[in-house]
Amino acid sequence: MTNMRSSGKWSPNSWRAKPIQQVPSYPDTDALFATEKQLSTYPPLVFAGEARKLKRALASVANGESFLLQGGDCAESFAEHGADNIRDFFRVFLQMAVVLTFAGSQPVVKVGRIAGQFAKPRSSDSETKDGATLPSYRGDIINGIEFDEKSRVPDPQRQIMAYRQSAATLNLLRAFAQGGYASLDNVHKWMLGFVADSPQAERYQALAGRISETIEFMRAVGITSESNASLRETDFYTSHEALLLGYEEAMTRVDSTSGDWYATSGHMIWIGDRTRQPDHAHIEYCRGIKNPLGLKCGPSLTADGLLQLIDLLNPENEPGRLTLIARFGADKVTEHLPKLVRAVQKEGRKVVWSCDPMHGNTITAAGFKTRPFERILKEVQTFFDVHRAEGSHPGGIHVEMTGKNVTECTGGARAVTAEELQDRYHTHCDPRLNADQALELAFLVAELLNKNRVGLPHKTAVNG
Ligand code: PEP
Ligand code: CO
Repeated sequence: MTNMRSSGKWSPNSWRAKPIQQVPSYPDTDALFATEKQLSTYPPLVFAGEARKLKRALASVANGESFLLQGGDCAESFAEHGADNIRDFFRVFLQMAVVLTFAGSQPVVKVGRIAGQFAKPRSSDSETKDGATLPSYRGDIINGIEFDEKSRVPDPQRQIMAYRQSAATLNLLRAFAQGGYASLDNVHKWMLGFVADSPQAERYQALAGRISETIEFMRAVGITSESNASLRETDFYTSHEALLLGYEEAMTRVDSTSGDWYATSGHMIWIGDRTRQPDHAHIEYCRGIKNPLGLKCGPSLTADGLLQLIDLLNPENEPGRLTLIARFGADKVTEHLPKLVRAVQKEGRKVVWSCDPMHGNTITAAGFKTRPFERILKEVQTFFDVHRAEGSHPGGIHVEMTGKNVTECTGGARAVTAEELQDRYHTHCDPRLNADQALELAFLVAELLNKNRVGLPHKTAVNG
């Protein structure tokens, strides 16, 4: 099927002929090209067959039969690369997944913002501090976060470092996912620990108790993690924003079994809210690869604009290919989301709808960029309300989170105050949910899913 609106022949480098936003200026282009050439000879980080498997799992989300959990750092960093960080993230992520699986009685598709989430779009090309102006930090794959002239110069060698870090991270994640660490028994024990310690213990006790009972029952009839691989192992996928297209191009390979092009830098890649112009480079690159794609949908997106992008990115209307990640802000969802959902429904487009309650809810408090937990929750709740009203599936959530006890977002049951933000504010970019806040969000989304499943009104589900 040819698409009238697609813009000519695609190749991994056809994006180079298009206008582009958010592009770093490398002082030494020869060195940049040499690095890209070198990267193009390196082994793929992920395999086409895995990306296809994720696409099938996402197709089941598009059909209303599964739920997508996507989350991780806003920006991975070289400095924070360590086994403990990866383990702690993975552990909380799995706990969230178990809570959501049980509440929705549906499989949860697990996709980390990890093993490649290094490049950041910025609202300004430069940053001014104490009278000095320097190029903005664009993520560790491009330049350094330190506020000095040398650090802020884009350095191609950083792409090699990001590639190697991604490979090492993936290696550990694969071991965790398949080697017994992800066993339901472990995750269940961790979750009980959280519930016992939580100021909301009573509220979460009922759900935790039902999960425990179910596990006991399964054990009694002989379904244990020793006898059943699906209780011992899990499928975990990686994703990142495909922002730095030279890197992505170098990691784009033909799959020998299908003859199709795949991004092998991660299983799923997404297009940011700032780089989704239909005739620009980022859409051009993404339309030609076969991986599952995400598209961030912010307040400036119109219904017609969205349909045009869907035509470009998913001309075959293949379920699982495209995930629309709504990120409007708690006070703007009601204004923007219904018309987009309606347009998609009316045109019969098969998409996954996911809610990113982080990027529209950033404020400044006590001199820090932060996100109030109540607003994050309110955006998710409104997202569920809108989908229920429109008869559409609220397919997933997309969050910025860490397994560590940071103080970056305010609020939560164990409330972080604006004054406490300075205590452990470690993010390299946007404020993340800490481990407690992330798991608490999962419990609250579980209540929404549960109400959705049994068909009860859920407007008042989370006012505790
Ligand atoms: C992000 O996901 O970190 C991001 C920059 O999001 P958005 O494109 O939605 O602003
Ligand atoms: Co972010």
